[in-house]
Amino acid sequence: MRKVSLDELAPGMKLAKDVILDDGRFLLLKGFTIKKRYIDKIRLYNIPYLYVEDEIGKYEHFSEEVVYTETFQTIKNVMESVRQGDTIHLPVLKETVDGIVQKILNDDNVFMKLTGIRDIDNYTYLHSVDVCIYSVIAGKSLNLTDSEVKELGMGAILHDIGKCKVPLCILNKPARLTKSEYETIKKHTQYGYEIVLSTPGVNPAVANIALHHHEHWNGTGYPSGKSGHKIDLFSRIVAIADVYDALTANRVYRKRFMPHEAAEYIIANAAQYFDPDLLQVFLDNIAVYPADIIVLLNTGEIARVVEAKGEASIRPKVMVITRKDGPPVLDPYEIDLTENPSVNIVDIIS
Ligand SMILES: [Fe+2]
Repeated sequence: MRKVSLDELAPGMKLAKDVILDDGRFLLLKGFTIKKRYIDKIRLYNIPYLYVEDEIGKYEHFSEEVVYTETFQTIKNVMESVRQGDTIHLPVLKETVDGIVQKILNDDNVFMKLTGIRDIDNYTYLHSVDVCIYSVIAGKSLNLTDSEVKELGMGAILHDIGKCKVPLCILNKPARLTKSEYETIKKHTQYGYEIVLSTPGVNPAVANIALHHHEHWNGTGYPSGKSGHKIDLFSRIVAIADVYDALTANRVYRKRFMPHEAAEYIIANAAQYFDPDLLQVFLDNIAVYPADIIVLLNTGEIARVVEAKGEASIRPKVMVITRKDGPPVLDPYEIDLTENPSVNIVDIIS
């Protein structure tokens, strides 16, 4: 741990001590990774110095954030140019997706803490990046070849590209869609298929993902109503990642589900919508609540998630470090949420 002045503070550093205001309120908690907007906030409160973790691994998390942000920008550029009638500029996108795939092939926990950081305005782009990350993690654990995982990643990031042909007033409508608006939205699968297929150098398997990611395991999906293994493997993977990620984002028409609620939703609907074997792979490999994120419990306690992966992370062990209102916790203590069914995570703080 070392003391740094506000001028020395840089994005990517990790707080080693809580930042407490003069009136006793917590501004930022130990374990937070500094982002530019936090520095601006700290400056407002005239805080002269803070404690950050030592050099080793200091920028590890930050480099993932850079890759994530660059990927977001790339898919945003692709979607905006397609919306204006241009074609997909494949080389840049391919390099970006291959970079994500390579990072995940080396370590599939690498992006876990970054997914789920989304705002409403950028929802479509960030959702595309998250679906790509989740799909690649699932593809890796299914022992697909590297080139198959790269195709899956490309198809996953482009799965909703057809939405570029859907009017924004329908896509961003802050209310329930009419039947005819919903029929228009559904066309994004066919539009996406045509856009991807007309891109030189793209494998048709990538276009199939755009076409079939809304098919359901029981045949009630669209556009073709295919069922079971008649739906291609990549589309079955992306279908799970798509629904899980969409539920955990705030939308213009509803508040987000907490990750455990989204996981419980997809488990409850597994038999109708999803390939049960793939769903198990998905749940075994994602961290519903990744280690080290800070959460608010329904008891008012603020806690850090202790290492957890797979289905166990739906109700992880947490270490209580402070309280929303009231004095700080001097001796942090652990709560195992599986053994305490009345204690729930109600918000993610960081
Ligand atoms: Fe879609």
